[in-house]
Amino acid sequence: MKSTDKLSSTLSEKKSWTKPIISPVRSGIQNKFGGALYSNWQDTIDGVVINELLEQYGSPLFVVSEKKLRKNMRHINRVFSARYPDVLFGWSYKTNYLGAVCNLLHQEGAWAEVVSDFEYEKARNLGVPGNKIIFNGPYKTRDSLIVAINDKARIHIDNIDELHTLEDLGIELDRDIKVAIRVNFETGYTEPWSRFGFNLESGQAMNAVWRIAASKHLKLVGLHSHIGTFILEPQAYAVQTRTLCEFMNKVESSTDFEIEFIDIGGGFASLNSLQGIYLPPEQIVPSIEQYADAICSVMLDHTEQRVARGGKRPQLVLETGRAIVDDAEALVSSVISTNRLPDGRKALVMDAGVNLLFTAFWYNHQVIPTRTLDGRAEETVIYGPLCMNIDVLRASIMLPPVKVGDSLIFSPAGAYNNTQWLQFIHYRPNIVMVHDKQQVSVIRKAENLEVVIAQERLPQHLAKPFK
Ligand SMILES: Cc1ncc(COP(=O)(O)O)c(C=O)c1O
Repeated sequence: MKSTDKLSSTLSEKKSWTKPIISPVRSGIQNKFGGALYSNWQDTIDGVVINELLEQYGSPLFVVSEKKLRKNMRHINRVFSARYPDVLFGWSYKTNYLGAVCNLLHQEGAWAEVVSDFEYEKARNLGVPGNKIIFNGPYKTRDSLIVAINDKARIHIDNIDELHTLEDLGIELDRDIKVAIRVNFETGYTEPWSRFGFNLESGQAMNAVWRIAASKHLKLVGLHSHIGTFILEPQAYAVQTRTLCEFMNKVESSTDFEIEFIDIGGGFASLNSLQGIYLPPEQIVPSIEQYADAICSVMLDHTEQRVARGGKRPQLVLETGRAIVDDAEALVSSVISTNRLPDGRKALVMDAGVNLLFTAFWYNHQVIPTRTLDGRAEETVIYGPLCMNIDVLRASIMLPPVKVGDSLIFSPAGAYNNTQWLQFIHYRPNIVMVHDKQQVSVIRKAENLEVVIAQERLPQHLAKPFK
């Protein structure tokens, strides 16, 4: 293009313009350095131009990076395996059970960690062998337990009724069943998730062990606990691991059981901003190495005597979810209208809302435009398209003027959105995965009317809307 052509095409491009306003100075908006500059923008994901993705696959659009996901999984695997000799990851399906995401993580060596009949079926349907499934959760039906027993899945007993059911099934099927129990206890760092599993301090957990020891067909081989989520203090894991190891020693010294694995669940924080936390995630989220140091040093110490006796160290199982997948996926959404609120704040309405970005209820996601934005940043509220007042993607963010049709990237968005999202008012959009060499595949097709009404049935006398 000649430079004069370039100049005339730049001149003919319509500049964005918004009506000038006088806005009151509110504390927190400006500091002694003046208004914040907004220099952050991104127009590609793994080399693929975002606006071209939107043109081809529509807006809004979830974009998963294969490269980032593999990198995260390999990194966490490497960090833990360098510190402990026997480590296994169970991919927490509830965090993100898109088939392509699960299979990628299985290819990287993770088993499936499932918490319902549906998730169990999903894992089997993806081709995961039953003996590579960790079956957790408070509600496992009798039928799914039978399947899991036959599959030789790892069954983690959550409560006494489930223990009784498994005892009965052992007798009924005349099968020995290897089981683990989930336990809960105080770490001093996190709110104990005491509704799951058997409580340690009250003696409930040891009673469960005695009960298993007395049963003909059950054999205890594992201990499991999950102490919470988005845990910012690695020492919480040191306490958790120590508590589990001490309990393991108690179990082994008072029964004939030998514990083959200790499963410490998930909970490592991702690089997302929890609402109410002032510092940015880069400053407060511990590194995987810090978590691993806390866990593995305790595991090594507390299993040393076993090794000295000629025994094997138990396997260390992790069910890390958000720390693996969150920053490997983003939601790209376009501005559908702009508004000025009565109090002077700017408002944007996007084509994606909390129906898609469910985690906006507790995170302040990073919001990055796909082009440079000029002009003074001002306090802006970002709304979704739902006809509901709760549909707020971001209650307050400093943004320069954006116009209808501009797109914004909300990230990290890989954890708990594609599982907790809602088909509510709008169809759910395409999800694409960007592979190596800028290849792109749709990994979940956008919904349409046919998909949404597929399960509905109209009784004959309601088949027509009007007589
Ligand atoms: C038993 C269990 N394992 C693993 C996870 C994954 O947790 P996170 O995504 O915080 O790592 C959860 C989440 O609640 C859980 O309940």
